[in-house]
Amino acid sequence: MTKVSIIGAGNVGATVAQYLATKNLCDVVMLDINEGAAKGKALDLTQAIALTGGSAKITGTSDYKDTAGSQVIVITAGSPRKPGMSRDDLLKINASIVAGAARQSHRHSPNAIFVVVSNPLDIMAYLVWKETGVSTSRVIGMAGVLDSARFQSFIAEELKVSAEDVRAMVLGGHGDLMVPLPRFSTVNGVPITELISKKKIDAMCKRTANGGAEIVNHLKTGSAWYAPGAATAAMVEAIITGGRKLYPCSVHTGEKHGLPAVFTGLPVVIGKRGVERVIKLKLNKDEIAALQASAKSIEENVKRLNELQAEAAKPAAEAALSAAPAAPPADASTKATDTSAKS
Ligand code: LAC
Repeated sequence: MTKVSIIGAGNVGATVAQYLATKNLCDVVMLDINEGAAKGKALDLTQAIALTGGSAKITGTSDYKDTAGSQVIVITAGSPRKPGMSRDDLLKINASIVAGAARQSHRHSPNAIFVVVSNPLDIMAYLVWKETGVSTSRVIGMAGVLDSARFQSFIAEELKVSAEDVRAMVLGGHGDLMVPLPRFSTVNGVPITELISKKKIDAMCKRTANGGAEIVNHLKTGSAWYAPGAATAAMVEAIITGGRKLYPCSVHTGEKHGLPAVFTGLPVVIGKRGVERVIKLKLNKDEIAALQASAKSIEENVKRLNELQAEAAKPAAEAALSAAPAAPPADASTKATDTSAKS
């Protein structure tokens, strides 16, 4: 059976595991630094699928060896948002956790496709790509599927129609500057711009961009997991079944679309190879400007990430220098100076 490993067995990770195991799509490894949480949840889920008819093998572990040979690695590790925190506030906390998770899981599953869920999402997707060195088609951030599902549910509620009949499209970063696209959101093919007033659509777009924070403010102790879990599982399903689903996902722009070279939400077809194709929509001036503003803020945060990583690397480099043999012999002093100047 296909093997999927989920790094981080918190609420989102466990919910992804539950969807995949209940649908009997793959064996699942749940890895967490809290080994007891991973093992306990895996056992609980194994017993749950005895009732739902699943036969997937579910393993809980804190050892990356158990993730070896995974087709997909889902990274949910890191701290969730607390009230008042933006996703970007999480940057510092989550960067070192996600970098370690990416490197270790890549070592054991060199051919895996990465689905990144940790926040700040678009920056963490970039980080996973950078740390693993895999091709851009193998790193996909989960955000647009979730944000579109939120928009979809608000549209269904407003129009009193089945949410199943609503298709919504939200591009850009998974943050306050995300870009809901009403012109590309429909009820069975009818654009919502034909059905809802601009004022109401604007309010729904705003609520969508604030969708994660709205839940954080209710919960007070963390962030959402049911919809993020369902969105992630849908992406994993499209990859392992070769579903060729058109989803908005955070992917490398490839400097196309007039955007900086970052990860941000674009419409893509995902399947067995990961990102099979990036779709270029005919956007109007306002939509392009919104997408560029969102990508620019991601670019700034990527810069912050690179600075933070350089700062974190400094003490190690200094320690290495001070551990190096002191006072080179007089005739070698020029060479020693040259070397340190380069480092
Ligand atoms: C949210 C988190 C998962 O939007 O980013 O709920």
